[in-house]
Amino acid sequence: MKPLLITIDGPAGAGKTSVSRMLAARLGYKVVDTGALYRAVAYHAKSAGLQPDDDNGLEKLCNSLNLKFIQNEKGQRLLSGESDISDKIRTPEITMLSSAVSARPVVRTYLLKIQREIGREKRLIFEGRDMGTVVFPDADVKFFLTASLKTRSLRRYQELASQPLEAVAEDMKRRDSNDTNRTLSPLQPAQDAVIIDSTDLSLEAVAEKMLSYINALNE
Ligand code: DC
Repeated sequence: MKPLLITIDGPAGAGKTSVSRMLAARLGYKVVDTGALYRAVAYHAKSAGLQPDDDNGLEKLCNSLNLKFIQNEKGQRLLSGESDISDKIRTPEITMLSSAVSARPVVRTYLLKIQREIGREKRLIFEGRDMGTVVFPDADVKFFLTASLKTRSLRRYQELASQPLEAVAEDMKRRDSNDTNRTLSPLQPAQDAVIIDSTDLSLEAVAEKMLSYINALNE
């Protein structure tokens, strides 16, 4: 099979991360969680006391960052300089802040470059919001994974158990609205994306569906 670059876009909680990992294990590919990069910028913006709309501050901040994915015994980790920030970027506050900074052009421009550099390698699955539309419009295979708000909130609640279900649903709704309605690279399926609704499917079934699609391409 020819080495592919695969993109999986979709809203929070649609199952992108789990499905990407399953698919990567079956194909022998690596996953790139691009949301982690936006979270890293948000994390550093908060540490520096920046407002999420301070474009000058964000630009300086981005230029000072050195973000890198590595693989170790804990799985894929995100390093900022020498420090492993993978767990620190998963708090509800950083989650909301990442959505806010992701609407800023300076942040998107900075991360676009990093993502395309990583994408020079093949055998990768990029998951995010604008992978198939903006970052890799020529990707070999594009999926757009979605699910009802109720299902997505429940999945996220069961995963994190850090907030009541109502708060998870409320945050998710706000984030959906921010990510879908921003001017730059809004969350939307690429015209040539295969759209999969995972509301009534197990994530294993979604991964199988994707795999069948990929295998059919090679027949
Ligand atoms: O996938 P995630 O929940 O970790 O993403 C965090 C935020 O980052 C999300 O609310 C929107 C933003 N994001 C983005 O704008 N583009 C991407 N490719 C990935 C994430």
